[in-house]
Amino acid sequence: MAHLTYHSHRLSIAPMLDWTDRHYRYLARLLTKHARLYTEMIHMGAIVYGNKEEFLRFKEEEHPIALQLGGSGAQQLTKATKIAYDFGFDEVNLNCGCPSPKVQKGSFGAALMQDVGLVSDCLKSMQDSADIDVTLKHRIGIDEEESYEFLRDFVGYIALNTQCKTFIVHARNAWLKGLSPKENREIPPLKYAYVYQLKKDFPELNIIINGGINTLELIQKQLENVDGVMVGREAYQHPMFLQKWDQVFFENESGITIEDLIQALYEYTKQELDNYPQLKLRNIVRHYLGLFHGQPRAKIWRQMLSNSDLLSSNRPELILEAYEAIKQ
Ligand SMILES: Cc1cc2nc3c(=O)[nH]c(=O)nc-3n(C[C@H](O)[C@H](O)[C@H](O)COP(=O)(O)O)c2cc1C
Repeated sequence: MAHLTYHSHRLSIAPMLDWTDRHYRYLARLLTKHARLYTEMIHMGAIVYGNKEEFLRFKEEEHPIALQLGGSGAQQLTKATKIAYDFGFDEVNLNCGCPSPKVQKGSFGAALMQDVGLVSDCLKSMQDSADIDVTLKHRIGIDEEESYEFLRDFVGYIALNTQCKTFIVHARNAWLKGLSPKENREIPPLKYAYVYQLKKDFPELNIIINGGINTLELIQKQLENVDGVMVGREAYQHPMFLQKWDQVFFENESGITIEDLIQALYEYTKQELDNYPQLKLRNIVRHYLGLFHGQPRAKIWRQMLSNSDLLSSNRPELILEAYEAIKQ
């Protein structure tokens, strides 16, 4: 049961393709010790047949950490779940919310909400394969299906037929035709009331709300209605937002200072570049660009850390130099 030590979904950082890789997650973990971290969505086939180490490695400090899987075949999802368990993940989350055309073509992501029986079969098989928390992330509906009853029946069926107890609900529909993934995160209206109602109808389930939550006050308000809050874009684009989370929502611990953070990021980057010679500095520091968002000299920081000439040397000291430049 060692794998089930970490239970809290009170606050989490959303799975985001190309964004929540291990380098970003390490930054996030320096800022909040307790929020649950999610990987990017990784296709089950990549895990079963690909370079597992490359896709799945993470640092011990990243716990509690969840792997998000994309796919819809129970057999491969189950194999991938077992592998995730062996790697030490605390949770495996199935993606039922991604509307991208590529994902639709593979019949997974949000399209899966049309086939609750298949989702249940997948979750059951995944759960049976390993002693690990298996959870679901989904939308409130798809296309013209706007009724609360659709959402209630979807969750109700899964709760009845599987051991899945945690439902992470992106509180807007996915429109499978006509909208890009980006538009699908902005245009379908947010309906938080649907998620609150879900908590009322299924008080025994762990209901986590997601979508458009970007201030401490909004998080607080959501926590009065549901069990947890998942934050996506705000956590990535303005990482210092996370600095107050532990203090406000967990154990009153004060967050890391900016000086200590920069030093820790430098040490981390140096170690990564030493350990993985193929790695490029730009792949790590691209996640640091938003750190000084809203501050007068933020532009200098961003310019230095995205300057091709400066990055080409692959020297981690660039982080310290950029910080010196904005401190003056
Ligand atoms: C760049 C980007 C990539 C995303 N990739 C994924 C993904 O891999 N899996 C997933 O379930 N959601 C993905 N999402 C959706 C987020 O997890 C989240 O549901 C959405 O951004 C709404 O939350 P927010 O308003 O706090 O950003 C992605 C969002 C963004 C911005």
